[in-house]
Amino acid sequence: MIEYRNLRVALLGAGSVGAQVAALLIEHGQELANRAGAGLELVGVAVRDVNATRSTDIPRELLTTDAESLILGADIVIELMGGLEPARTLILQALNSGADVITGNKALLATHGPELFEAAEQVGAQLYYEAAVAGAIPIIRPLRDSLAGDRIQRILGIVNGTTNFILDRMDRAGESLETALATATELGYAEKSDPSADIEGFDAAQKTAILASLAFHTTVPLDAVYREGITGVTLAQVDAARKAGYVVKLLAICERLTDEQGVEGVSARVYPALVPRDHPLAAVHGAKNAVFIEAEAAGDLMFYGAGAGGIETASAVLGDLVSAARRHVIGGPGVAESTHANLPILPISRVITRYQITLSVVDQPGALAAVAVLFSGHGVSVETLTQSVQLSDSGVSTPSPTATLVIGTHEASEADLAATVLALESSDVVSQVTSVLRVEGS
Ligand code: NDP
Ligand code: HSE
Repeated sequence: MIEYRNLRVALLGAGSVGAQVAALLIEHGQELANRAGAGLELVGVAVRDVNATRSTDIPRELLTTDAESLILGADIVIELMGGLEPARTLILQALNSGADVITGNKALLATHGPELFEAAEQVGAQLYYEAAVAGAIPIIRPLRDSLAGDRIQRILGIVNGTTNFILDRMDRAGESLETALATATELGYAEKSDPSADIEGFDAAQKTAILASLAFHTTVPLDAVYREGITGVTLAQVDAARKAGYVVKLLAICERLTDEQGVEGVSARVYPALVPRDHPLAAVHGAKNAVFIEAEAAGDLMFYGAGAGGIETASAVLGDLVSAARRHVIGGPGVAESTHANLPILPISRVITRYQITLSVVDQPGALAAVAVLFSGHGVSVETLTQSVQLSDSGVSTPSPTATLVIGTHEASEADLAATVLALESSDVVSQVTSVLRVEGS
């Protein structure tokens, strides 16, 4: 057995992820030491309640409620407590004492990332966060290191397992959003008390801020991420999407855009969108995550796997631990986050994409022409149009017939599209705008 210099590892949190990290670190300590070139001594585990039942056996003497004392003298601190405070303060204390820090805390990074990265840079320490986006899937290191020589054009991510599970059930099992949400809650994907972080898109928005910042070398604050959740998605929209060759997915989109004024900037947004059924992201089922990257030189890349789960996420944390330990062995300062590009962040109104709009119109001469004028009048070009007429039970059209129009557009700006929809809603020939969905990935 090779003897190594020991590095002192402090773990903050022993919940779903932390308990697995502790167990794997104890079980595979020697192997990890061989990979890192340093012993990894778990010196303590901070929790709220040392007597709580845990999912793995952590030696009782390692547990403490005194996180502050635990981090003193640690070489590497792993923060898996979650939440903003005391996680932020403890990470700052750890960094300021020269420790490298590993975290899976996307909420904290999306909110206070710049402050934490700055603190790490000041003392030459490093903050690792592979687990913060898409759980077990390696995505931070590929963006930060492997693709550092490329120019990323766009990222389309399914980064929230709960909403992907719900939309997949609606698509493949014909369940309503409410029924699918109840199943997601029962299976432990969505929070029982408050599933809004998932279904309102907050969790995906945090991950989008982190991905966009890395991909475009630009700090993208959480409040610059446009966000729509899935609560407005209906089974009728999902059914219509399937018939038209699409699937509805909640997407995290990070895009390098040149807007209609010629300004190059970054768009970071989260919304449910239509994805063509032959796009690789359409094959991401259940609670799985995937991140699809379009890079100038590398072309299309896709990263797929478990976006959550205690042991799966522990894999990403332990990968960071080995990297941090190797860095300690070699010595020298950490590599700072690169924000040199500092691109402007474009508001949603400047985003250019394609749309599918479903309308009920009165089925009379001139209705189609009136609708077409509203599109062209706002500079939105129609690409496809399908019309179906509501028939009575006997198969003949109803006395005051209405027709359903499904209109696919060429690329248009959000501002132009929003103005078109407003005009449609107040048009005499339109009884209802039943659905407006963006089309991505085609
Ligand atoms: P849990 O809620 O399961 O665990 C949190 C742990 O932190 C518990 O052990 C808790 O102690 C401890 N803790 C919380 N507050 C304090 C405090 N003030 N002082 C001391 N200990 C405290 O969280 P998860 O393991 O699910 O998540 C941890 C982090 O990883 C989060 O940032 C999360 O976003 C992220 N993450 C989680 C994933 C997942 O699949 N769960 C996936 C990817 C990232 P006690 O047990 O005594 O209550
Ligand atoms: N709640 C998240 C999801 C898991 O459903 O994907 C942790 O990010």
